[in-house]
Amino acid sequence: MKFTVFHFPILESTNDKALALLEEGGEEGIVVIADQQTAGRGRYGRHWISEKGNFYSSFIVRPKKPLERLSELAFVAAIAVGRLLEELIDSGNVELHYKWPNDVLLNQKKVCGILIESYSTGQSAIPEGCVIGIGINIASNPEFTVFPSSFINHYSRHPITRDQVLDGILGHFQSVYLHWLQQGFAGIRQELLQKIYGLGKNIHTTTPKGLIQGIFEGLTDDGGVIVRTIGGDCMTIKSSEIIFSPQNS
Ligand code: BTN
Repeated sequence: MKFTVFHFPILESTNDKALALLEEGGEEGIVVIADQQTAGRGRYGRHWISEKGNFYSSFIVRPKKPLERLSELAFVAAIAVGRLLEELIDSGNVELHYKWPNDVLLNQKKVCGILIESYSTGQSAIPEGCVIGIGINIASNPEFTVFPSSFINHYSRHPITRDQVLDGILGHFQSVYLHWLQQGFAGIRQELLQKIYGLGKNIHTTTPKGLIQGIFEGLTDDGGVIVRTIGGDCMTIKSSEIIFSPQNS
């Protein structure tokens, strides 16, 4: 996989820029990075505050897989970030977790968010490609966030630079992505499960079918959350915001 990095001092959103390049025929391996974003976005249409000093990137991929498999790319990116942070963070007593479906946590605080957006011409069941947006808090975190947040330099004895993050993420992304393309999701699921946040804890979420409450039991073969409800039945959640109950998380 060959990477071509386009660096901008300021953009509205690296995902917007990468999506425009994807639509124009931009190749797999294009990576858009920006020092700052004026309209960075997260999941559920949330604003991703994007001040200077942090890492804002969007990767173009063209995996030629059906739409329903593309959400697995959030886990691919999370594992790449997780491996990178384990390599870069040089102090002990720092715990890394993956918070389903797309966050990376250090000591229970969010330091990375991932946003997958796909592009399809509508002429085929297989989307043309995808943009994987990765935001990593290096030097600061926003003050008010839905889930508690922090930044990676808070946990490192030596300041980690944006260039170190960029250099490292390319290699880790390449190896996890190629593994996923060639061998599927099973190995990635195993790696996620070893460090998944909230396993065995109470969770709740609202779905079109109503409120689901229960214990976070595990992950399905395609990355959904298995919840054991109070009645003892198991249900699967594929896309929804899960709230981890504070009393036991
Ligand atoms: C989330 O946690 O809700 C996902 C946040 C994703 C933020 C990144 S920053 C780089 C890329 N460009 C964007 O506009 N969003 C993603």
